[in-house]
Amino acid sequence: MGYADPSAGRDLLGTRTLFFIFICAFAVVTLRQQILYGGKYLKRGLQFSWQSGEELGNWTGTFNFTDEGAVKTGSDAGSRYFEFYEGPFEFNSTKCLELRRDIMNVKGLAMVKQSDLFDRWKSLAICKWEMNVTEANVFKSSLSRCCNAPSFMFTTQKNTPLGTKLKYEVDSSGIFHINSEVFQIFPKEMPYYRSQFKKCAVVGNGGILKNSRCGREIDNADFVFRCNLPPISDKYVLDVGLKTDVVTVNPSIITERFHKLEKWRKPFYEALQVYENASVLLPAFYNTRNTDVSIRVKYVLDDFESQQAVYYFHPQYLINVSRFWFIQGVRAKRISSGLILVSAALELCEEVHLFGFWAFPMNPSGIFITHHYYDNVKPRPGFHSMPSEIFNFLHMHSKGILRVHTGPCS
Ligand SMILES: *[C@@H]1O[C@H](CO)[C@@H](O)[C@H](O)[C@H]1NC(C)=O
Ligand SMILES: *[C@@H]1O[C@H](CO)[C@@H](O)[C@H](O)[C@H]1NC(C)=O
Ligand SMILES: *[C@@H]1O[C@H](CO)[C@@H](O)[C@H](O)[C@H]1NC(C)=O
Ligand SMILES: *[C@@H]1O[C@H](CO)[C@@H](O)[C@H](O)[C@H]1NC(C)=O
Ligand SMILES: *[C@@H]1O[C@H](CO)[C@@H](O)[C@H](O)[C@H]1NC(C)=O
Ligand SMILES: *[C@@H]1O[C@H](CO)[C@@H](O)[C@H](O)[C@H]1NC(C)=O
Repeated sequence: MGYADPSAGRDLLGTRTLFFIFICAFAVVTLRQQILYGGKYLKRGLQFSWQSGEELGNWTGTFNFTDEGAVKTGSDAGSRYFEFYEGPFEFNSTKCLELRRDIMNVKGLAMVKQSDLFDRWKSLAICKWEMNVTEANVFKSSLSRCCNAPSFMFTTQKNTPLGTKLKYEVDSSGIFHINSEVFQIFPKEMPYYRSQFKKCAVVGNGGILKNSRCGREIDNADFVFRCNLPPISDKYVLDVGLKTDVVTVNPSIITERFHKLEKWRKPFYEALQVYENASVLLPAFYNTRNTDVSIRVKYVLDDFESQQAVYYFHPQYLINVSRFWFIQGVRAKRISSGLILVSAALELCEEVHLFGFWAFPMNPSGIFITHHYYDNVKPRPGFHSMPSEIFNFLHMHSKGILRVHTGPCS
């Protein structure tokens, strides 16, 4: 037997203990450094108010950040543009054209250091944002060729007739036979049409929203999309607002928090009441596991005589949207529900504003942020590809297709 010799075992333990002590000492030193450098981040961050500069605020001092938290000695990258800072520059000015090109020249996330990308993004904050109608229309028409949200975003009685053998988004899940029971809970037609809403806000749940004071700006949009039943209680309202026209629900939340609606249903009904009359969107036909629980949502809301509409994403719409973004470089097992909503918003709205979309552990000023604005629970690794989604949004912002908000609102 391997462990029959006691002396050998003790010898080994001795070495292990020493090794363990060494590791502990190393960890303590590292932790101390983290704390020290963390403090530096914070101190510098406080001097730095680029976000209010977006509208009319002041630029106060340079910033010396790098990825590692070390203090940069040369002041080339960050302060390059701010020496000339006089006020908000026009989107179309030569300076802003140059700054926007600096973002667009980064063709892939791996091309530059994260801190360099952040610096370029921060620099752009001195520019007002304007929509470039030409660019936006080109993008929107390629989206409508691929995906056509105004006709296919949800399953409707028109696009999914009785008897349809609906293919699930996940191939191996097979097909769902549309019977009359399911057919009759579909809306007759898509409830939205092209460019129906003037200004839309799509609200991601990123920690970047915390202390952003963007609630009022979000509530001022004509139509507001939110993802995954996010909390919008008093505690958060200043930062994230209240208005909700559409909210997605991930069936795994219903399974975990609401017992698949197989037990008491009132807690779920009450959780949805917070969003008042918002429509509830579910990926019922993503895979077989989602279907029953998603359809039960409709029954629950009907039983409680809720006015809220329940809609199901058309699986073909989801497939086409995923393919669209795959070609744009978003290589993920599954695109996020945020990206699906942004895609829909681009077709349904004239002007699209993104809040809470930022997938990095630090904000653009290098200050650590939580993963969500309400908690710090990390997502499943390797499932979504958030940084590359955000990276695409920064490009689109620079082209004037949509606007990404990452700073506080004034
Ligand atoms: C900018 O700074 C100047 C001088 O420090 C101050 O008078 C002004 O009110 C500031 N503007 C804003 C928008 O904070
Ligand atoms: C940043 O670095 C420059 C150049 O070394 C230095 O002059 C400046 O004081 C630093 N700024 C801060 C805020 O530490
Ligand atoms: C922006 O610049 C382009 C090219 O320089 C010009 O054709 C266009 O009219 C300008 N647009 C605005 C809104 O100033
Ligand atoms: C809008 O985009 C078009 C096409 O890329 C470009 O020619 C034009 O100069 C842009 N306009 C502005 C105001 O940036
Ligand atoms: C999705 O893409 C396929 C193949 O490109 C196309 O035939 C189909 O019409 C698209 N579906 C929708 C809903 O637009
Ligand atoms: C709630 O929303 C539904 C669907 O969007 C709509 O038909 C209904 O009239 C709305 N009810 C109220 C009270 O606003």
